[in-house]
Formats: sequence, structure tokens, C-alpha cells
Amino acid sequence: FESRLLDGMRVLITAGPTREAIDPVRYISNHSSGKMGFSLARAAADAGASVTLVAGPVNLPTPAGVERIDVVSAQDMYDAVLARTAESDLFIGCAAVADYRPATVVEQKIKKQNDEMTLTLVRNPDIISAVSASESRPFTVGFAAETQDVLGYAKGKLERKKLDAIIANDVSVAGIGFNSDQNEVILLTARGEQALPRMGKQQLADALIEQLAQLLNSTDPA
Ligand code: C5P
Repeated sequence: FESRLLDGMRVLITAGPTREAIDPVRYISNHSSGKMGFSLARAAADAGASVTLVAGPVNLPTPAGVERIDVVSAQDMYDAVLARTAESDLFIGCAAVADYRPATVVEQKIKKQNDEMTLTLVRNPDIISAVSASESRPFTVGFAAETQDVLGYAKGKLERKKLDAIIANDVSVAGIGFNSDQNEVILLTARGEQALPRMGKQQLADALIEQLAQLLNSTDPA
């Protein structure tokens, strides 16, 4: 018997993009592949955790032993996550949640009319902020995908969203981040930062889970 880093821990992870309907045949979305979140789910399960993965529309197999809940929109993801927040010890928000959705979903396919058309968008709820503001909050970890001043923006998000840790990456660098198989990140907490060099997403996920487990275990229970 070998005890593992996350034995007995319940881990909730979001992954992938969300899809915001415009009409029955169209939507707004982004290029998130879900690879990082799925790799984290696998790493957490390998570390002994019981893992629930709330996944937007992605084309990836479910890691062994992981419970998967498929969602489409940001609102669906919000509902699925908030229903499970209280029973989770660790939440990792890895999803690229759409910030806005169309104000109304048109019931029939929109027909082309003029040379210009205007779509009115409204803000989606911030899932991770709701998690960190909840009673009996889990240890809450976010991602910050940035194209400039990566550390500055990540620190801002850590504070504004009241996170315990944030994983920052520079998505303007070719070959890492969105849709690629490699990533390179900095793990930030209120206490300091640690750089994890470029490596495959599964290897990086294993390293991140090891770091997060140490942070979790060093946090005094309230
Ligand atoms: O503000 P920004 O979208 O850059 O923050 C990224 C972090 O916030 C990620 O952890 C992402 O999963 C989370 N997020 C969220 N709900 C949103 C937007 C972002 O949980 N509506």
C-alpha cells in the first residue's frame, strides 16, 4: 500500500470552451481544446483523488476513473459547478469560459438581411469567483491565459477573484497554451511564485497537481 498525494480528496475541475447559442445552428465559442483540464483530471485521479470533470464541448476521451459531466454553455457550467462546490476540497477552473453570451437566443435560424448586423451580448457569470465566494469554499485555483504582462494580470486575478492560487501562461508564445500539446506556466500564490518550464501537458499536469497537493496539505484547516 502506497499512500498518494491526494488520497481522500474530492477534486472538481472545469475544462474546455463553452458554447453560447445565437440561434439553433450558430454559436460563439473559442479555441480551447480542453487538453490541460483533462490532463489535470487524469493527474489528480492518479494521485488518488475522486475527480469530477465538468467539460465543455471537446473531443477528448474521459480519463480513467474520472466522473465527467458534459455541459455546453457558461450558464450550464456554472450550474454544474455550483451544485458540487460544497462537496469539493479542491476546485481548478481550467475552462475558457465565454465572457459574454447573446442577449437572446433566436428560436429560428436567423436569415441574412442587411450588409451589417448587430449582435447584443451580455456578461456571463464568473464561475470561479462564485466558487471562491461560496460558503465552505474549496481550495480554489484559476488559470490566467495572457498575451502581455502575464504576472501583473495574473496577480490581479488572484486578488480580484479571491483565489488561493493561479496558474499563468503566456498564450502569445508559439507552441504553448491553446490547442497545443505543450505548456509552460508560472504558479502564483499570495506567498510567491514558481516557474514550471515548457513540457508536455500531461507531465506539466502531474507537476502542478504535486505542487497543489503540497499547498493544500500546508493550508491549516479552518
Ligand atoms: O478573467 P479571466 O477569464 O481571464 O479569468 C480566467 C480564470 O477565470 C480561469 O480560471 C477561468 O476558468 C475562470 N473563469 C470562470 N468563469 C468565467 C470566466 C473565467 O470561472 N465566466
